[in-house]
Amino acid sequence: MADKAYLCTPKKTVKLQVFSEISALRSFLAPLRSPSRPIGLVPTMGALHAGHLALIAQSKQHNPLTVASIFVNPTQFNNAADLEKYPRMPEADTAMLQAAGCDVLFCPSVAEMYPVPSALTMDFGNLNRILEGEFRPGHFSGVGLVVAKLFNIVQPARAYFGQKDFQQLMVIRQLVSELCIPVEVMAVPTLREPDGLAMSSRNLRLTPAERAKAPVFYETLQYAQAAIKTKKPWSEIRQEAAMKVAATGFRLEYLALATQPNFQLTENVTDSQPKVLLIAGYAGNVRLIDNLIIE
Ligand code: PAF
Repeated sequence: MADKAYLCTPKKTVKLQVFSEISALRSFLAPLRSPSRPIGLVPTMGALHAGHLALIAQSKQHNPLTVASIFVNPTQFNNAADLEKYPRMPEADTAMLQAAGCDVLFCPSVAEMYPVPSALTMDFGNLNRILEGEFRPGHFSGVGLVVAKLFNIVQPARAYFGQKDFQQLMVIRQLVSELCIPVEVMAVPTLREPDGLAMSSRNLRLTPAERAKAPVFYETLQYAQAAIKTKKPWSEIRQEAAMKVAATGFRLEYLALATQPNFQLTENVTDSQPKVLLIAGYAGNVRLIDNLIIE
């Protein structure tokens, strides 16, 4: 539920302003930004879907001006083929943002964002070493770098991220907290397809046969949640989950349980500490992730 203090009065749809240069975007935003006219930022890598539109909708509710960015950030890809195959559909994305009433689109080139190869790396400690941090070395360093750049370029009051990338959200919260960046990080719940598959730009890369079986990751999370409630040992839950995923021909990379809010891996299914279940795996060549906050 949105905080009433944030709510903005709806305004007429205006034409989406598109910028690819940092200096032009900065000049445009400078006179529009003030404490009473905060900017909301929705950072994306494009191939937009309803999940992204939910981020835009939230930002529009809270802020009089919403900026979306589309940038397939090379420094966060640890796999060259994944970067190359990442879906890119600028025309469709622009039309979606215009229809959603987004005010500004920032879609820089790689040369604009990285005029020289970046020498800076970021280490988020525990978050860098477990789960996504472990399986995608360098990924969070690249995410931290590009999000810090976007925050400095746009200077939003609030920035909106999907809860589907749960660990990324924690990385961004750590970035903002440790660097004292004056941005409020807003988490938006995951949107799902009718069969439960978490919405993701990567879903576009699934073949029809893979897409039909892809809900197995969410089903496995639901199975694990139910099993935790019966206090089944974690090792058994983990093994049964792996079998469930393997039965589809997909590969489970991890199913993990982490405490909230400090994000420590745990196998304890009996204590009452709040937790989140996280899953990652491959549907063919496409890597999918999902999570479920245990209620
Ligand atoms: O979640 C994403 O799409 C990306 O990781 C982000 C936050 C836009 C940074 O490139």
